[in-house]
Amino acid sequence: MRKAFPKTGTEWQALDAEMTAMSGADINWRQGRAPLYVFHGSDAAYEVGFQAFMKYFSENALGGRRAFFGLKRMEDEVVEMGLDLFRAPDGAVGNMTTGGSESIFIAVKAARDWARTQPRLKAPYSIVAPFTAHAAFNKAGDVMDLEVRRLATGENRRADVAAMEAAVDDGTIMLVGSAPCFPHGVIDPIQALSDLARERDIWLHVDACVGGYVAPFFQRIGRDIPDFDMALPGVRSLSADLHKFGFCPKPASTLFYREEEDRERGLFHFDQWPNGQFSTATLSSTRAGGAVTAAWAVMHHLGEAGYMDISKQMADMTDAYVAGIKAIDGLHLLAEPDLTIINFGAQDRNNELDIFKVAEGMDRRGWLPGLTQNPKGMHAMLSMFHEAGREDYLADLAASVEEAKGMGGDPDLKAVY
Ligand SMILES: Cc1ncc(COP(=O)(O)O)c(C=O)c1O
Repeated sequence: MRKAFPKTGTEWQALDAEMTAMSGADINWRQGRAPLYVFHGSDAAYEVGFQAFMKYFSENALGGRRAFFGLKRMEDEVVEMGLDLFRAPDGAVGNMTTGGSESIFIAVKAARDWARTQPRLKAPYSIVAPFTAHAAFNKAGDVMDLEVRRLATGENRRADVAAMEAAVDDGTIMLVGSAPCFPHGVIDPIQALSDLARERDIWLHVDACVGGYVAPFFQRIGRDIPDFDMALPGVRSLSADLHKFGFCPKPASTLFYREEEDRERGLFHFDQWPNGQFSTATLSSTRAGGAVTAAWAVMHHLGEAGYMDISKQMADMTDAYVAGIKAIDGLHLLAEPDLTIINFGAQDRNNELDIFKVAEGMDRRGWLPGLTQNPKGMHAMLSMFHEAGREDYLADLAASVEEAKGMGGDPDLKAVY
């Protein structure tokens, strides 16, 4: 039955209780039982983000320029800190958005508008990307009528740059590299993509949405992380989400451009309506002011030292997960991860062990399994929520594998994000 619009009001206390009851069956994500959707750095960073968000709960980032000057200054400073972190050259610019998909969408719009100024680029336009690029590129392509060509990946499931080069034609406006890609957590060969972009004068977007705010700190704690940022001259735009491994509250992402004129191409301007000049750098017009101020506060609270400290903890934890998974007979990593995203498959001698069956066992034991297809895998994006549940996870995984042995699998089962 459809819920009726309430006739009278209800006090907060009753609502609070009802809301808690409604979420009673949720996955226990605070104990690391959700492999995606949520992130945790430290309790103190969470508290700072929460307080800073609430302090600007009502302000609207749309009005930053005309009304909320402190908020606007914080937004500018978030962007400047990002430009510094990603070693952007002088003259580079950026803006905040409400998420990775929006950052990608706007970067694609900017590239599309640039392409229209280049007579050598012939419509219909296309984007050339590895198979592992985020679905957001197709979302943008769908709206803007752009074909997204996804190419099989190469060594360690990184982008195959030669295959991408072969797929470029005179309608190709953008190359995509991920740092890292969501499915396998590996960083594409951005240096080689940067060279290709410069050689062919094609826009290169680096999607560092998931890893942008952690990869530089993994480098600083001595992990072997290849360069992926705006120090590489062919990187024309880069997206990085604060609401993931920046440990800031949702919705917060950043989008950077090497050139001011490219940022201009991402903007929307309109004045043929009663309210006059209307300009935004995002698809959303109204934006949560709190997401901007919380990002500013969390970045200052953690600083380089804080992000490095959490990175060290996450790197050790990921190593322990990887070692635990490799120790389970029948499981293998689908790629060696660069950061904290892991993906593993299953195989036994008779081909009768299916990772999706293992996932069903994990589901029954109260874990939300992350699944991938082509190849089939179990996927997890690890942040500090996942330390508490690590030993239980590995024990339940071993039990689920034993249970699934000899059962085979359903070939028609598909992964769901
Ligand atoms: C590599 C990558 N790009 C883009 C996105 C999209 O981000 P959002 O969910 O904030 O739109 C994600 C999300 O996980 C991602 O991992």
